Amino acid sequence: MNENSIIKSGGDQINIGIIGLGYIGSGVFKLIESQKEYIARKTGKFIRIKRVADKDIMERAAKFEPSFKSEIIFSTDPYDIINDPDVDIVVELVGGIEPAYDYVIDSLKKGKYVVTANKDLIANRGESLFTAAAEHGVDILFEASVGGGIPIIGPMKSSLAANNISKIVGIVNGTTNYILTRMQKENLSFENALKVAQDLGYAEKVNPAADVEGNDAACKLAILCSIAFNSRVVFGEVYKEGIKKITLEDIKYAGDLGYVIKLLAIGSDEGGSVCARVHPALIPKDHILASINYANNAVYLYGNFVGEVMSYGQGAGDRPTASSIVGDIIQIARNFNRDNKKPVFGCTCFINKPVKPIDEMENKFYALMEVKDKPGVLAKIATIFGSNDVSIESMIQKQTKEGGSARIVFITHRVLNKDMFKSIEEILKLDVVNQVLNVIRVEDLK
Ligand code: HSE
Repeated sequence: MNENSIIKSGGDQINIGIIGLGYIGSGVFKLIESQKEYIARKTGKFIRIKRVADKDIMERAAKFEPSFKSEIIFSTDPYDIINDPDVDIVVELVGGIEPAYDYVIDSLKKGKYVVTANKDLIANRGESLFTAAAEHGVDILFEASVGGGIPIIGPMKSSLAANNISKIVGIVNGTTNYILTRMQKENLSFENALKVAQDLGYAEKVNPAADVEGNDAACKLAILCSIAFNSRVVFGEVYKEGIKKITLEDIKYAGDLGYVIKLLAIGSDEGGSVCARVHPALIPKDHILASINYANNAVYLYGNFVGEVMSYGQGAGDRPTASSIVGDIIQIARNFNRDNKKPVFGCTCFINKPVKPIDEMENKFYALMEVKDKPGVLAKIATIFGSNDVSIESMIQKQTKEGGSARIVFITHRVLNKDMFKSIEEILKLDVVNQVLNVIRVEDLK
């Protein structure tokens, strides 16, 4: 059956409007145009791109073959899409919070379904968007906002929905994973690895902060936690530390202890509260997440019936991201009835749990210090740890340098973050301690 016979035989034509014809928007445009017959045969619905809006539309649309553009209406004004009663699904690919929020909420209020890749929008303004969608009997789908092409949001809302998810651990930022992989495998310094990532277009040249300081991963974790634990977590509630302080020395010592260092996004359901944190962590070399290298992403979770599940693949790029966006469009199309619109999944946040502050969370820690190599040093450090309820699991003196200084690595048991922070503050005041070079959490992921 081809698209015309689907329409003739009573199959629906679904009109979509794309706002934003940049890198991702162009990928969506190409995917729909090249797969439209296949999608029509698969779903019985013909997906037609009716309108595309972009502030630079003339320049951007010029890049496409005439055959791709024949019946599409191009314009610079997103409201040409939002106000068109024939547009059924709005695909928002502008990014950022404003003006994307206005485009999305106005589309929902007009009874249009929305598909977006916008993690900032969902992680900051999700609640009001879901409320508007419910009030107008439609839905907002956002698979591409986390992990690019890897399926995790739809599966958590559908095939995994029967489970209580207790923990979710993601490598959800490809740029930082790329940097850490190059540091680990090729001994590149952080600065050099960042430069390579910038040259390859992974990290932004002018301001790589969104990736290296953990903001991108924190948005994605807020979204994952809200779905996994059925309780809204917003970006500002996620504790975050980036990877700027990780050195080759940390990577080497972690390796000697059987670990690799990854930037993890970790959410856990603690019963009465939710923990949500993004930070570098030592993870066992033999854990499956240790094998997620370069710009790849993975999300790993524990469900009480399913057990362990992992989704792995390309976390960015036009084709993988378009795959998730069009997957969401197909999901809406399959359930589409113009005369009786309904949410596809609806909002799944029906509990309201507080997010625990980092001080109250418990972690195991790695701490690397440079100390004077003389009698009594260890005793002084151990006394401070002991008086703050920080129990030491192991300690290794890594090397003694000329001039009488030594490197010491401590691994603690699981302790309260506030007790560890206070210990480090006090240790820094000891005259026998030259520097605390780094303090990194250890996740055994058992
Ligand atoms: N900047 C992101 C990353 C991709 O490095 O993974 C877009 O979310």
